[in-house]
Amino acid sequence: MIQTVKGTRDLLPDVMPLWLRVETVAREAFRRYGFKEIRTPILEQTELFARGVGEATDIVHKEMYAFTDRNGDQLCLRPENTASVVRAYNQHKLYNDKTAGENTKLYYIGPMFRRERQQAGRYRQFYQIGAEVMGASDDPAIEAEVIEMLDWMLKELGINDTTLLINSVGDAALRGAYLETLRALLAPQLDKMCSDCHHRYETNALRVFDCKIESCQTVIATLPTITDSLDEASRTHFEQFKAHLDARGIAYRVNPRMVRGLDYYTRTAFEIVGASGLGAQNTVVGGGRYDGLSELIGGVPTKGFGFAFGLDRMVMALPDAEAERLRASDAPDVFIVFLGDAARQHSFRLAQQLRRAGLSVVLDFDERKMKKAMAQANKVQARYALIVGDNEIAQGTYGLKNLATSEQEMLGVEAITQRISESAKP
Ligand code: HAM
Repeated sequence: MIQTVKGTRDLLPDVMPLWLRVETVAREAFRRYGFKEIRTPILEQTELFARGVGEATDIVHKEMYAFTDRNGDQLCLRPENTASVVRAYNQHKLYNDKTAGENTKLYYIGPMFRRERQQAGRYRQFYQIGAEVMGASDDPAIEAEVIEMLDWMLKELGINDTTLLINSVGDAALRGAYLETLRALLAPQLDKMCSDCHHRYETNALRVFDCKIESCQTVIATLPTITDSLDEASRTHFEQFKAHLDARGIAYRVNPRMVRGLDYYTRTAFEIVGASGLGAQNTVVGGGRYDGLSELIGGVPTKGFGFAFGLDRMVMALPDAEAERLRASDAPDVFIVFLGDAARQHSFRLAQQLRRAGLSVVLDFDERKMKKAMAQANKVQARYALIVGDNEIAQGTYGLKNLATSEQEMLGVEAITQRISESAKP
């Protein structure tokens, strides 16, 4: 049997209510905070990420599904979507859209591709929900507002055990001087470091902070952090950002060694980590400011701030009780049990009426004995069984049995619809 490609997976119906719940809550958050949806292609030019995310990053250097197309074009499956959104913003001159107001707020939901080592919570095709504020001002108030929106989403999903980690990685000008210092400190220690770190040293020394190898970590622990060397403007920005979080009652921890795995960040960077239910891959959200990314890919000077969360991981982080409730909510409202030929015919019309009234109705085409049919209703986890026989047809009322309580009453179509709609779903 041909199977799924390594690192990809089928999302089967039993998990879909969980995925849809996260998507629904996210869309609601985006509506409340004024974000509009954008869908960009999965297929992009490799150069977009090479320039945007950075040649030296693991994502571009090691993990991208890049290939030469039949006509020689260098294409890839997008490994992330920030560079794509910034491309679209420029390509369609969204900055001219006056209805967008002070800045353009966009959100997206879709698959991303990275050829990473497969483990729980890490896939080669994974899904992100993300948001980008394009044309953001310098004011860190927008950063705090976006994080407040994430905070609301997490609470709404019942995920209460995460930690917000923040840092400032300074701006591009500062980066140059800091990289010089890093390289000078790394040079005499390179023989203790892995081959990836050698590559990082050559291309972008900041990326050594991404290394997970223990011998490299020992060296990394001795390095000054970029946060220690912030310029005055970035330092002030960071202090204001923290004050905005405090004012919104959002708790955080500063992690000066968090530099994020993408090159485009300037100043504020953040992650949300640690929900139980996740294993080693416990970073749920990553984001930050990326002033200058637009220019890097040939666009107009634009400031930006955004985040993306892993939908796969957010689903894993849902509390067990919530996941249970969501799975149950997918069960049909009614299973129709019919007795006899006339009742069978009648049930088709009845099902049509109830479905048009908004109920989810299941009925089998094979006739079964009462006991077998009731067992079937329980098997499909229907909330109610509706019993239809000759007498019921004659009277125009049917036996509605609540399968959780076993209570049964005789009701007409309208009353059935009302009763079922009233009784809240589990
Ligand atoms: P990222 O940190 O590379 O940032 O990814 C964001 C989130 O996507 C991660 O925190 C994780 O939850 C999820 N994720 C990443 N790789 C995988 C994987 N292999 N399997 C499962 N989940 C994964 C970005 O992509 C930036 N574009 C975020 C951003 C938006 N920054 C500013 N705007």
